[in-house]
Amino acid sequence: MLHPAATPPGDPGTPRPAALSIRGFTKTYAGGFTAVRDLDLDVPAGSFFGLLGPNGAGKTTMIGSVCNLVRPTAGQITVFGHDHESREARRLVGLAEQDINLDRFLNVEEVLVYHAGFFGMGRRQAKARAAELMEVFDLTSKAKTRSPALSGGMRRRLLFARALMHHPKLLILDEPTAGVDVELRTELWEYTRRLHRDGTTVLLTTHYLEEAEALCEEIALLRGGQIIARDTADGLRAQFGADDIAGVYLKAMAAAGVSEEAAAAELGAPDEVATATAGGAR
Ligand SMILES: Nc1ncnc2c1ncn2[C@@H]1O[C@H](COP(=O)(O)OP(=O)(O)OP(=O)(O)O)[C@@H](O)[C@H]1O
Ligand SMILES: [Mg+2]
Repeated sequence: MLHPAATPPGDPGTPRPAALSIRGFTKTYAGGFTAVRDLDLDVPAGSFFGLLGPNGAGKTTMIGSVCNLVRPTAGQITVFGHDHESREARRLVGLAEQDINLDRFLNVEEVLVYHAGFFGMGRRQAKARAAELMEVFDLTSKAKTRSPALSGGMRRRLLFARALMHHPKLLILDEPTAGVDVELRTELWEYTRRLHRDGTTVLLTTHYLEEAEALCEEIALLRGGQIIARDTADGLRAQFGADDIAGVYLKAMAAAGVSEEAAAAELGAPDEVATATAGGAR
């Protein structure tokens, strides 16, 4: 199940630390419910990695722990070799959360500039970076608009832009395209692909399996807080004798004891699935 750390080309002797390395991660929430149990996962540096699984599988719990929003009950988490609680790790990660958590009193530009401030970016530099990202995400005309007056898709774009303000090397996107129209979804895919080509490691969760199919080179399937399959997309197709990732998903869930109907139903309505998820402090 574990994946060896990738070795950069031209430097065969020195293994590069994984972008994300998780060992023995367990999360038991107050109240005694264990959402994730003894999970090991490596996301190789430079990969485009998909984390798939039904509602409640533990994806957001795991991501929250990487980003210090959820306190792990047990286990070690490192980001490019740094403990996830360290300042270095925090700087290296950009997170677009599943829940749209924007300060309703800040306008688009302020959201971006304030975020950069947390990472020690000077105001002039932050304003320049904000202008650049507002251009990329087609938000320039909304620079002075507060988040309650943005459309749902614009809020998603703003979360995406905010995650990128401090040039993270590991970009974590937790259902970034939930509720986003087809045109914008394709644009976000293109932009994410470009970031990946330029060297950013991307960890994506999605309920749109065609999105995972189009983007991810490596995939882990999570169910009930445990990894039930993990390989390259090609390796998974071969292992499960499936033509596409949707087929892999259904067969992997069946192998984990979920009926094909139940697994297919989970794939049925991603928008409702995504918006029904609870948020808040954990
Ligand atoms: N603060 C909390 N207190 C108690 N249980 C929680 C809390 N947050 C999440 N859980 C539970 O942990 C489990 C995993 O939730 P999580 O949000 O990690 O799932 P997920 O894989 O991200 O699902 P989705 O695809 O719906 O976003 C669920 O059963 C959920 O109810
Ligand atoms: Mg989630």
